[in-house]
Amino acid sequence: MIHKTAPEVGGMGHPIKRKEDLRFIQGKGNYVDDVRLPGMVYGQLVRSPYAHARIKSINTTEAKKLPGVLAIITGEDLAKANLAWMPTLSYDKQMVLATGKVLFQSQEVAFVVAEDRYTTADAAELVEVEYEELPVVVDPHKALDPGAPILRDDREEKTNHIFHWEVGDKQATEQAFQKAPVKAKVQAFFQRCHPAPLETCGCVADFNRATGKLTVYMTSQAPHAHRTVFALVGGIPENNIRVVSPDIGGGFGNKVPVYPGYVCAIVASLTLGVPVKWIETRSENLQSTGFARDYHMTAEIAADRDGKMKALRVKTLADHGAFNAAAQPTKFPAGLFSICTGSYDFPKAFCEVDGVYTNKAPGGIAYRCSFRVTEAAYLIERAVDVLAQELKMDPAEVRRRNFIPADKFPYKCPLGWTYDSGNYEAAMKLALDKIGYEQLRKEQAEKRAKGELMGIGISSFTEIVGAGPAHTFDILGIKMFDSCEIRVHPTGKATARMGTKSQGQGHETTYAQIVAQELGIPAADITVEEGDTDTAPYGLGTYASRSTPTAGAATAMAARKIRDKAKKIAARLLECSEEDLEWEPGKFSVKGAPSKSKTIQEIAFAAYTTVTPGLEAGLEAVDYYDPPNLTFPFGTYVCVVDIDKGTGEVKVRRFLAVDDCGNIINPMIVEGQIHGGLTEGLGIAFMQQIDYDENGNVQGGSFMDYLLPTAVETPHWETDKTCTPSPHHPLGAKGVGESPNVGSPAAFVNAVVDALSHLGVRHIDMPITPWKVWSVLKEKGVTS
Ligand code: CDP
Repeated sequence: MIHKTAPEVGGMGHPIKRKEDLRFIQGKGNYVDDVRLPGMVYGQLVRSPYAHARIKSINTTEAKKLPGVLAIITGEDLAKANLAWMPTLSYDKQMVLATGKVLFQSQEVAFVVAEDRYTTADAAELVEVEYEELPVVVDPHKALDPGAPILRDDREEKTNHIFHWEVGDKQATEQAFQKAPVKAKVQAFFQRCHPAPLETCGCVADFNRATGKLTVYMTSQAPHAHRTVFALVGGIPENNIRVVSPDIGGGFGNKVPVYPGYVCAIVASLTLGVPVKWIETRSENLQSTGFARDYHMTAEIAADRDGKMKALRVKTLADHGAFNAAAQPTKFPAGLFSICTGSYDFPKAFCEVDGVYTNKAPGGIAYRCSFRVTEAAYLIERAVDVLAQELKMDPAEVRRRNFIPADKFPYKCPLGWTYDSGNYEAAMKLALDKIGYEQLRKEQAEKRAKGELMGIGISSFTEIVGAGPAHTFDILGIKMFDSCEIRVHPTGKATARMGTKSQGQGHETTYAQIVAQELGIPAADITVEEGDTDTAPYGLGTYASRSTPTAGAATAMAARKIRDKAKKIAARLLECSEEDLEWEPGKFSVKGAPSKSKTIQEIAFAAYTTVTPGLEAGLEAVDYYDPPNLTFPFGTYVCVVDIDKGTGEVKVRRFLAVDDCGNIINPMIVEGQIHGGLTEGLGIAFMQQIDYDENGNVQGGSFMDYLLPTAVETPHWETDKTCTPSPHHPLGAKGVGESPNVGSPAAFVNAVVDALSHLGVRHIDMPITPWKVWSVLKEKGVTS
C-alpha cells in the first residue's frame, strides 16, 4: 500500500499538472535546433539516390567554389582518421560516409559544411557523385537465395544472413504439435514503420580548441551511453566530452542509435574549431534513421478441442536493412521477442528468428516498445484469435481458458522469463463488462443478418519492461542499471538528477512526485534535471518504458538514503534515539509525543548549519539501481469497428483500454501516455508503412505518404485500469509508456478480421487501408 500524501505535497497518485508544460505551452522549450552558439556553422549530408551502387567518383570541386562553403567531408577523408565506419549497438559496423559502395537509398555519402543553411543546401547539390548501379535486394526472403547478391562484401561471412536465434524446447514443442487435435496458424507481417517524432534528429557539436572539450547538444535518448561511444570511437577522453540533451520533441526509440550526421558534425567541429549544427529534414528522418519492426512472422498454436493451448511455435524472418543497427540489449538479437507466449499458460514453446541484410535503411529500433515486444504481442494476440476461429469459440473465452492464473505468479514461462505479477482475467473482465461485450455480440449478430459489417477485437497483452537486471542486460557491455542523485538544499528545496532523459513523458513532474512521496518535500519544491552528462549520474537513458522501473526505483532508493540520514539528524535535534522516532511524509516525530517533531525542511537546515557527531554535513544521496527483474505490465483492449461495404473504410466506433501498470505515480500523465500510444497504434494499424519498390526506392518518405493520425481520424479513447503492483519494484510500479502501442495493433486488426470472419477471412496484414479492405470485400463478393 502506498500512503497517499496531501495534495499540496503531491506524492504518488496525485494527478498534478506537468511542471514542464509551463515552458512548452509558452513556446519556450529549448530544443537542439534552438541552440545557437557564437560562430556556429551548418552541415548537410549528401545522400545516395540509389539503393545499391558502386561509387566511382566523388567530385567536390564545384561545391567547394561556392562562397561560404567551409569544408566537404567524404568517406575517404574519414577513412584516413579511421572513422569511415562506426560500431552499431548490435556489434555490427555501419558506414558513417560511404566508401566503395552504397547500400540503401538515402545513405550518407558526403558532409557539406558552410556558413549558413542555404549555402549547405546549394553546395550539397553541387557535389557530383558518379555511381554504377548494382542489383538490389529488397525482399528479405530472396536475400537468402543461394544466387542473391552479397550486400555486405566488407564482412568475412559471404552471406546476407546475419544471425539465427532460438529459444525454447524444440523437440517437446514438436511432440505437442504431433499429439494436438487442433492447430491454428497465422502468417503476419509487422510492416516496417517509423517512429516519426515531431522533432527530427540533429546536433550541435562544439569543440573548444582552447580547453580540448567537446560539447555535443544532441537529440539523444541516452546521453551517457552516447558519450561513452564517442569516447571509444573518437578517442577523445570521456571527461572531455559533454553530451547535453535539451528538450526533446519525441523520441520513441528513434533517438537511441548514433547516426552518421552526429559523427560528421563532431568531425567537422574538430576540424574547423567552430560549433557545427546538423539538423535532419523530415524526409531524411523517415528515409534514413532507425526504422522499427519489419518482422515476417509465423505463429502456430497446438490446442485440444476445449481450446486449451498445448504449445506455441514461432518462426520469424527479420529484415534489418543494410547494417544491423538494431538497438537492443547485447544478449538478445531479436530483443525481447521471446515474450511471444504472452498472457497464456503454454506448457511448451519454441521460437526462432533469422536476421537478414537487405538494401534498406538500417535500424530495428524499439519504437515505443521494449525491444520487439510489440511484434510479439501482436503475433500472439492475432494467433489466439485465429485459434478461436478454428475452434468456433468466442475469442474472449479462448483467452479466459488459457490465461496464466493470478495465483501462479511469479510465473516462469517456457521461453525463460519470470513474470513478476499479473491478473489477466480481472483486466479482461473489467474491459468486457465496461464495453458491454455480450450486448455488442448480439448487435453484431443482428447486423450480420442484415448484411452489415461490424467487428469486435480483443487484445489481452502482456509486456516486459524495465531493462534491466545487470546479470542479463547490457548494451555494448554497459550494464543497464539506472540512477538518481538527490540534493536537498539548506532551505529544504531539492534538485534531483537522473540517468534517463524525458522526450515528453513528463519526468520533471513524476520523478518530483516520487521524491515528494518519499521525503514529504512538496513536488513543487523539487527540480528534476536530466540529459546533461556533466551533471547527471551515469545511466542508460529512456526507451522501452524503462524509466519508472529503473531510474524511478533509483529515485525512491536515493530518497530513502536521505531519509535515513535525516532520521539521525532528527534524533539529535529531538534528543532521542532513532528507535523512538516515527516517520510520516514530511516529518519525524517522537513516538507517543507527536508535538515533538522536526520537519524535513528543519532537518535539511540543520544538516548544513549544525554538526551531528559521526555524520558528514549536507543532505544528498545517489543511487544506482540494478533491478532484480523486469516488470510485466499488461492490459485488455477492446475495439469495436464498423466497415463501409462501399469504400472499405474502417470506422473505429469505440476503443476501451484497460491497463495495469501497478502503482501509478501520476494518473493524468499515465492517461496521456495511453492516449498517445493508442493514437500511434491506430496509425500503424491503418495508415503507415515504409515500403520500397523493387529498385529499393522508398515509397513512404514524406508525410504525404507516411500518414500520421490527426484529430479527425482519432477516435475517442476510453480508459480504465486495474492495479497489480510489482512485487520487486520499491514503489510497486511498472512501466507504462509503451503499453498502448504494444497492445493496440492486435485489437484493431482483430476487430477488422472479426467483422469479416464469417466470410472466411483469417488475417489481413497492416496497414489495413480502405483499399485493402475493399479488395477483400470484392474478392468475397460483398462490396455494395
Ligand atoms: O521510460 P519512459 O518514461 O518512456 O516510460 P515509463 O517509465 O512507462 O513512464 C512514462 C511516464 O508515465 C513517466 O512520466 C512515468 O513517471 C509515468 N508513470 C506513472 O506515472 N506511473 C507508472 N506506474 C508508470 C509510469
